[in-house]
Amino acid sequence: MATILVTGSTDGIGRQTAATLAGQGHRVVLHARNARRGDQARAAVPDAAGVVHGDLSSLAQTRDLAGAAAELGPFDVVVHNAGIGGGQPAPVLTGDGLEHIFQVNVLAPYLLTALLPRPARLIYLTSGLEADGAVHLDDLQWGARRWDGMQAYSDAKLYDVMLAFAVARRWPEVRSNAVDPGWIRTRMGGPDATDDLPEGADTQVWLATDDSPEATVTGAYFKRRRQLRANPQAYDETLQEELLAACAKLSGVDLP
Ligand SMILES: NC(=O)c1ccc[n+]([C@@H]2O[C@H](COP(=O)([O-])OP(=O)(O)OC[C@H]3O[C@@H](n4cnc5c(N)ncnc54)[C@H](OP(=O)(O)O)[C@@H]3O)[C@@H](O)[C@H]2O)c1
Repeated sequence: MATILVTGSTDGIGRQTAATLAGQGHRVVLHARNARRGDQARAAVPDAAGVVHGDLSSLAQTRDLAGAAAELGPFDVVVHNAGIGGGQPAPVLTGDGLEHIFQVNVLAPYLLTALLPRPARLIYLTSGLEADGAVHLDDLQWGARRWDGMQAYSDAKLYDVMLAFAVARRWPEVRSNAVDPGWIRTRMGGPDATDDLPEGADTQVWLATDDSPEATVTGAYFKRRRQLRANPQAYDETLQEELLAACAKLSGVDLP
């Protein structure tokens, strides 16, 4: 039995991942943005071991979340699943003055990774749209470019792959991988998506729990349990280090 934290487990792929893992007998800790959503998540996944709260668009709440989660750990696995899509017609700034998609999808998983004790396995949710992402470390907050929400999402999902690869390189004892869940019928994926929730959660559940050589690699990009090549920029170690440095500066926390 493993102890597993799944961020963004109130809905969609995260809730399915948490429910499947809990159903397999693992000790699963849910995460919700607030107590109300936490109660709803508990009702949806009644065999979860607990729930922690924190809005990932707030650095202070994300720091507190890491502290609360650590008390329910240590975790064998952390699944960085929470995320928001790219539909915003104009950039939205969070209370920290940061671009919303970047903060929730990239800076929050970075900060949680840096603050939580190292688990044996880390899984970062990316998207096939990472292939369309481009690294703009000089303009992470979209101050200089004309806003394009889908580009902001694609860039963020590329940064998630870079984060997974950077952590894999920095922490060789940890298996750190990125997963494209496919196009899944969720609130984010929409009703026209091609696949259902179980497919969307399957690779994360497998990477979290399977001990086969295929599932215990590190620094890989998966879709449907198969390794794929990610955006070429994801493999650039200089860019990976610069992304970590940018996240450290924005969050005030270095990756140990
Ligand atoms: N669905 C797809 O086709 C697809 C494709 C590629 C990649 N992905 C990735 O898969 C992951 C899950 O997506 P999904 O389709 O399951 O999305 P979803 O149904 O919209 O669920 C997103 C989850 O993240 C949580 N979340 C969002 N913003 C948050 C914040 N500020 N603080 C705390 N929690 C927050 C949501 O909480 P609330 O319920 O309270 O909002 C919810 O639990 C994302 O990382 C996404 O980029 C999805």
